[in-house]
Amino acid sequence: MQQSYDVLFASSNKYKYQEASTILAEFGIKLGFFNCKLLEIQSDSIKKIALHKVTDAFNQCKKPVIVEDDGLFIDSLGGFPGPFSSYVFKTIGNNGILQLVNKKRTANFQSVIAYCDKKQLALFDIKVKGKISEKIHGKGWGYDPIFIPQGQKKTYALLKNKNKISHRYLALRKFSNWFVRRQ
Ligand code: IMP
Repeated sequence: MQQSYDVLFASSNKYKYQEASTILAEFGIKLGFFNCKLLEIQSDSIKKIALHKVTDAFNQCKKPVIVEDDGLFIDSLGGFPGPFSSYVFKTIGNNGILQLVNKKRTANFQSVIAYCDKKQLALFDIKVKGKISEKIHGKGWGYDPIFIPQGQKKTYALLKNKNKISHRYLALRKFSNWFVRRQ
């Protein structure tokens, strides 16, 4: 059977996959979904976490694969939740974050795309500056209802063009420039 994708996206998060697939289609890259659980090491570096995850993903699927690791870094909280963003979202959620953030609301969303095939490992990272909203605005997934990217007035959840400006978009654009040139 002919392979119907150019690269796999390893994750158990279907929202991330759907966004990544829409974004990469714009660059002519077909993304397959490798729905799996990946080993996530404890580290304060999302680059290190992404490298471990992509190596684990490649060992499982043996195909060209990418993983994404993200973190929301809030300046007044010393970068918290950062690499623990997923756990913190599951435990205290957006309401908990809003209770912790006071006057200084600046934050950034970071994304790392890690690529692995049998010959190569590569990393593509990006940081999007912004701030934490005063209240929950909109119904998007994860931190979308509380993150306002710099230069915008609305949260990711309310922005129609999130997929054209987000940390995911910018990191995937970096990856696709490299991937397309290399093919
Ligand atoms: P991880 O990369 O799966 O560890 O993700 C970190 C966490 O950040 C996710 O579980 C989400 O809660 C959150 N996150 C990552 N990207 C986004 C996004 O685009 N919107 C909202 N939340 C996000």
